[in-house]
Amino acid sequence: MKQRNYYKAFLRPFLFQLPAETAHNIALWGLSAMAHLPNQSIFFRDLFKIPEIPTECFGLHFPNPVGLAAGMDKWASALPVWESLGFGFSEIGGVTQHEQPGNSGPRMFRVRSHQAIINRMGFNNPGADLFAEQLEEWVERSLWPSHPVGINLGKSRVTDLEKAPSDYLYSFQKLRKYGDFFVVNVSSPNTAGLRSLQEKSALSRILEAIMLANTGSLRRPVLVKVSPDLDESELADILQVSFEFGISGIVATNTTSSRPTLHKRPPAATYSENGGLSGAPLELRSNQVIRFLYKESNGKMPIIGVGGIRDLKSAMEKFRNGASLIQIYTGLVYEGPMLIIKILNGMVEYMKREGISDLRELHPKI
Ligand SMILES: Cc1cc2nc3c(=O)[nH]c(=O)nc-3n(C[C@H](O)[C@H](O)[C@H](O)COP(=O)(O)O)c2cc1C
Repeated sequence: MKQRNYYKAFLRPFLFQLPAETAHNIALWGLSAMAHLPNQSIFFRDLFKIPEIPTECFGLHFPNPVGLAAGMDKWASALPVWESLGFGFSEIGGVTQHEQPGNSGPRMFRVRSHQAIINRMGFNNPGADLFAEQLEEWVERSLWPSHPVGINLGKSRVTDLEKAPSDYLYSFQKLRKYGDFFVVNVSSPNTAGLRSLQEKSALSRILEAIMLANTGSLRRPVLVKVSPDLDESELADILQVSFEFGISGIVATNTTSSRPTLHKRPPAATYSENGGLSGAPLELRSNQVIRFLYKESNGKMPIIGVGGIRDLKSAMEKFRNGASLIQIYTGLVYEGPMLIIKILNGMVEYMKREGISDLRELHPKI
């Protein structure tokens, strides 16, 4: 029986009347209110009957392989709620060493014709110190989620590119006891010069600083998030540096500066806004990058696949191209929170039908 999508029927029409960032703030405010309710996680898990698809990856246990992508919860203000909605892990942030307001608005745009978003937020975030206080509050309230929590690290605007390693290191050290894994984000198109940190020597300096500190009982898996706008030789360089420094995985991909043609209909006017594009038009390139990284690493580097997931089919494509885990941002804005459970139920049915116990069995042949 086809279930009615109440989000699309009632909430989305209201939210889509508002500027994209205002709608985002209202939605997050509601989710944050929900997150504070005691036992909400058990309540929703029982109500929605969230299926388990246990997945082990870089030494962590994930109840299912579908996670929240970075940038949705930059203040960790709704942290406990992501698990209740069915996510098997959440990535919060991006966080920088220093608090910063980000770019001036408007800086987030829906492109409805393409089920896409363009953003040039510029790492608006509370900074690592305040972020740690917010995380401590969730711990003290006993509302810390039981699924793995990743923390996305960016570079402060006031920090020169040459001093980037110390900026990332500061946030890593400050937040290390909270995060189950960390993502070094050198691929946002909205901070001047940031993507140049993907270049071999610049990336090596950042990873060296972090991995030298990443020892002892608080040793954490560290991943690198890459841009879809890199060519194969640049991606191969990142893989090489990642293996050299003991990186646990690659998150592929961030938003793109390109504007792919999706269909014959002309895109909405917002398609020409500056910033990073996410959602449906990113899917193809994200999948190509995942497949390349998978093959180039002989399947030895775990990949979190992200970019354009909006239904079961686009979710499964990520595994078929080599992803071990997947993440969603823009699909959630267009399809609403029931998307996660819909995808999970579809995956369980598929796995039963095909007689497979792990979606990584779908990976390409090496
Ligand atoms: C408004 C917005 C803010 C984002 N902020 C971050 C961020 O701070 N750090 C990061 O690594 N990625 C960020 N992203 C990128 C997403 O994590 C994801 O890689 C990208 O949106 C592609 O996935 P999607 O098509 O499911 O949205 C942001 C995306 C959007 C739309």
